[in-house]
Amino acid sequence: MRLAARITGSVAATVVFGAAVLATGMSYAASGEEVIKARIAFMEDELGANWKPLAAFSSKGVGTLADVEKHATAIANLAKKLPAHFPKDTGRGKYPDKLTRALPVIWENPEAFKRANQQLADGSAKLAQLAKEGKKAEVIDMIGPGSYQRTKIGCGECHDDFRGERVK
Ligand code: HEC
Repeated sequence: MRLAARITGSVAATVVFGAAVLATGMSYAASGEEVIKARIAFMEDELGANWKPLAAFSSKGVGTLADVEKHATAIANLAKKLPAHFPKDTGRGKYPDKLTRALPVIWENPEAFKRANQQLADGSAKLAQLAKEGKKAEVIDMIGPGSYQRTKIGCGECHDDFRGERVK
């Protein structure tokens, strides 16, 4: 009787313990995935959305220098929020290559990653200033031909070093 109670008790404890481990493991995985999804949404819906009007201005002459100033300023402000989207170990190696293109070097060499982000902050602030001063030719040169990988405001440099190949 006493033995049975002990066994039952220990089984119950094991089940509770196991469920706790499982729950913790699951919530950790879910939150890492959420971080990655929110990060990609930040890149596409915030940085990307403010990049598009810049590309349209330089490649198609759509919009005005005032638009460029507005979106470049928005990018400079978003650069301040970028690092928070990269909490430690939420990249490849920990998560599947299909889910994220963030490379482990982001956390292995955080100073270089910070510099790449600063380049975006400075580049977009400079672009906003050029637009404000009405320097159209310099604005177009700085934005580049319309691809964010080739702009001089700092998107492509970070991607070259810290974003891996897309896998299907
Ligand atoms: C400091 C580094 C850094 C800067 C600066 C940066 N990005 Fe990214 N970007 C990344 C990383 C890393 C990823 C991959 C994120 C992931 O998959 O988890 C990414 C992903 C993206 C994606 C998602 C789609 C894809 O193919 O991966 C888009 C779109 C994007 N960036 C656009 C931009 C634009 C536009 C700018 C400039 C206005 C910019 N990024 C500046 C690091 C950066």
